[in-house]
Amino acid sequence: VEEGVVLHEHGLAELHVHIEGTFEPELIFALAERNRIELPYRDLDDLRGRYEFGDLTSFLDLYYANMDVLRTAQDFADLARAYFARAAQAGITRAEFFFDPQAHTARGVELREVVDGLADAAAGARREYGIDAAMIASIVRDRPVAEANDTFTDLMKMQAPIIALGLDSAEVGYPPSLFEDVFARARAEGLRITAHAGEEGPPEYVRQALDLLGAERIDHGIRSLEDPELVARLVDEQIPLTACPLSNVRLRVVDTLADHPLRRMLEAGLSVSVNSDDPAYFGGYVDDTFSALREQLGLTDEERQVLADNSMRAAFL
Ligand code: HPA
Ligand code: ZN
Repeated sequence: VEEGVVLHEHGLAELHVHIEGTFEPELIFALAERNRIELPYRDLDDLRGRYEFGDLTSFLDLYYANMDVLRTAQDFADLARAYFARAAQAGITRAEFFFDPQAHTARGVELREVVDGLADAAAGARREYGIDAAMIASIVRDRPVAEANDTFTDLMKMQAPIIALGLDSAEVGYPPSLFEDVFARARAEGLRITAHAGEEGPPEYVRQALDLLGAERIDHGIRSLEDPELVARLVDEQIPLTACPLSNVRLRVVDTLADHPLRRMLEAGLSVSVNSDDPAYFGGYVDDTFSALREQLGLTDEERQVLADNSMRAAFL
């Protein structure tokens, strides 16, 4: 079967992608060289050999380590530009991408550099590819709560062009309830709300994200399936779940793609979409994900169209 751009009738939105997770090994090496930083890897193959993960934390260790070479607005713009070029190939028409402000400010990079670089690339995505791109600042939940509040203050002071506030990083032990205050502030500012919940954490974290943070979407949410009452609520309220099947396999949330509950989720009436999460780390972008789902889960063209329509309906437009 020919691969390439598949145009979805009403567009295709990617709602769950961490821009730092689109950092491909070649670009990591190029930016290390430009910034004269010595990487702790012998060569590209040495780095590529480390993309084997046992759980979320083992992935996050490498994901945060590689960010060390991102220093200037130019670096962040180059990172995002590379993603948009690839997203255009994947047929994406709307991209709502996460960035982790604290992952950069905590190592001495000015928030301005991060936001300006990403915003510049997002504006270019529209001009070059017709991709409607929007930024979601994400709270790094395994860092101090006070830092989350300060980061949000800084984002508001600089009038960062963000459409939403998200919540990511190591989940278990860092329940949404910790972050009620900063999410209340975000809602008061008119921002949209999404949160990672139910990836490795329990269904209770999904409830907290909805009830305590005001989340309008749930990122991953796959462990909601353990709780029939929660599933009934998610169906009833049509809360979008941004599924990331390749991520779930690589981080061992599911054993194989063939075991992924995506079809069960569709059949249950959940509003689910397909996303790439950290495509440079998990073996593919959204088009690769759809191909793999067709081959290993027997995903039909009709199901694929439903997933694409769900993504557009779940977008913060
Ligand atoms: N889960 C939580 N935090 C993350 C992820 C993820 O899959 N990717 C980047 N930050
Ligand atoms: Zn994610």
